[in-house]
Amino acid sequence: MPWNRRAFTGRRLSRAFNIADLRELARRRVPGFAFEYVEGGAEDESSLRHNRTAFERLRLLPDTLIDTSRRQLRTTILGTPADAPLVIAPTGLNNMLHPGGDLALARAAARRRIPYTLSTLSTTRLEEVAARAGGRLWMQLYVLNDRAIGRDLMQRAAAAGYEALVFTTDANVFGSREWDQRNYRAPAKPTLRAALDVLRHPRWLYEVLLRNGIPRFRNVEAFLPPGAASAVGGSTVLPGMFEASISWDDIAWIRQFWRGKLLIKGVLSVRDAERAVALGCDGIVLSNHGGRQLDYCVAALDVLPEVAAAVNGRLAVLLDGGIRRGTDVVKALALGAQAVMLGRATLYGLGAGGEAGVARALEILCTETERTLGLLGCNSVAELGPRHIRRD
Ligand SMILES: Cc1cc2nc3c(=O)[nH]c(=O)nc-3n(C[C@H](O)[C@H](O)[C@H](O)COP(=O)(O)O)c2cc1C
Repeated sequence: MPWNRRAFTGRRLSRAFNIADLRELARRRVPGFAFEYVEGGAEDESSLRHNRTAFERLRLLPDTLIDTSRRQLRTTILGTPADAPLVIAPTGLNNMLHPGGDLALARAAARRRIPYTLSTLSTTRLEEVAARAGGRLWMQLYVLNDRAIGRDLMQRAAAAGYEALVFTTDANVFGSREWDQRNYRAPAKPTLRAALDVLRHPRWLYEVLLRNGIPRFRNVEAFLPPGAASAVGGSTVLPGMFEASISWDDIAWIRQFWRGKLLIKGVLSVRDAERAVALGCDGIVLSNHGGRQLDYCVAALDVLPEVAAAVNGRLAVLLDGGIRRGTDVVKALALGAQAVMLGRATLYGLGAGGEAGVARALEILCTETERTLGLLGCNSVAELGPRHIRRD
């Protein structure tokens, strides 16, 4: 790095200026195996890198001399007002990063009046999140090979008042994150090196493992064979559980148990977006699963313009993958997304400092998005459009 610049070395959340600073703080606070689980992508990690390149290729084109003193981020997501065009994406094993991770993410989202999506593979029961965090809750559905699991989850989420179901469709086969697998010598058995690294993080060891016990897949543990519910080594235990037979016919199956709003997460083509419209879905999430499933996959941002044009407002188009800056949020909205989902950005906040860290991540992204709006000559996200974007 030139002259005297260096990476963030602080500990205070208020001194973390951006998501990269929170990432650095999280990297130091959690053991390597847990950070690797968050960070990694499939195979050559080309999809993972491309999710960032896709944003970096786009330039912003501002209008000047516009009165932007009334800037604000308020918007509508799935027909309900939200304070910002953000949704926290579903991620499994959150309690591995911080005790009470799911609750911390859900509470920080509720305070910002944005939705939180709880994963099927969460480490807190969906009823507990509803009772102790509140706010707008969405439930993510993986259809696992025992279909009774999905049925149970949908019925419980409906009873607990979840607003929307997010059916993840890009995990019919489990992606291969090789760096993650290298941390285990056998399913759920960390290598000696990974275990020794845990000892170098005594605070994490005490707070996460010793005081609360190894996180477990609380939502689905009743259905798992003995020993399989422990979340250590998740990616070595789970591959066999994903259901390869899922298809568009399953929307009718889902509709038997779920009457609330329905989003399909994992759509990347106009053809599939049209199918979701035809089946009466309320929204789609353009996503390549944060680069964790298919490698060399297009980025959601690459296909957003064509999908948004084809859908033409018939359902909500959300996008995720690589959102790290307010400028990223603005680019996605300008090209037609109603909101973006945050995966790693808020997980870095969680690892850096629990609920306060997630709140800091959201604060950073909201501040940056609002600043970007102003610099573009806009007062609200509704004013954004493709004319604000140029391709490099
Ligand atoms: C650690 C981790 C766990 C994830 N777990 C799930 C999951 O349980 N269900 C799901 O639909 N997507 C899951 N995803 C994908 C995210 O929902 C989201 O699509 C992705 O993280 C977006 O990319 P980003 O991390 O670059 O923001 C996970 C992603 C990460 C990083």
